[in-house]
Amino acid sequence: MTRPELGVVTHRVGLATLAATGVLIVLGGLVTNTGAGLAVPDWPSTFGHNMFLFPWSQMIGGVFYEHSHRLVGALVGLLTLVLAAALWREGGRLRRLGLVAVAIVLVQGVLGGLRVVLQQDTLAIFHGSLAQAFFALLAAVALLTMPRGRVELHATGMTGAPE
Ligand code: HEM
Repeated sequence: MTRPELGVVTHRVGLATLAATGVLIVLGGLVTNTGAGLAVPDWPSTFGHNMFLFPWSQMIGGVFYEHSHRLVGALVGLLTLVLAAALWREGGRLRRLGLVAVAIVLVQGVLGGLRVVLQQDTLAIFHGSLAQAFFALLAAVALLTMPRGRVELHATGMTGAPE
């Protein structure tokens, strides 16, 4: 694979991670606004089940919001790992951003879990705020990994069809 192609793949993984995080933040807002924050009382298990094996038939009411939030959180964590690996292959300064993203997503997951286990509102505030910072970081990565040709066309305003 040539280097420019790899750049496109990294950019797309960055966009996918950004989009999934947007959905996750909306779900997080739903968890808070429906008061479903403690609908699932345990963590990292879900009512004693492995979270990935929790029966779909029991995803009702607040449990639906809380557990979906956890599942999409796991997906975002996985995508962040793939993104960091892609940035690592690219080399350069973006490598560090990938590592920072992995660190933030891990802290974010643990904060969410501790919110459930310790039942501290303060943790929910940190959790909600860090989510926005994580989203901003992913937006920066998506922008910085935009293929060079497209960035130059945008900068010169030559993105339309030739006249
Ligand atoms: C990258 C991962 C995650 C992101 C970006 C994220 C984002 C958010 C956001 C934006 C909120 C709404 C906060 C507010 O309205 O002020 C929220 C709420 C919440 N999240 Fe997460 N979350 C993530 C992972 C997790 C995980 C793994 C758990 C595990 C249990 C979790 C548990 C919760 C809980 C319980 C709430 C409700 C807090 C409350 O209102 O009391 N989150 N999350």
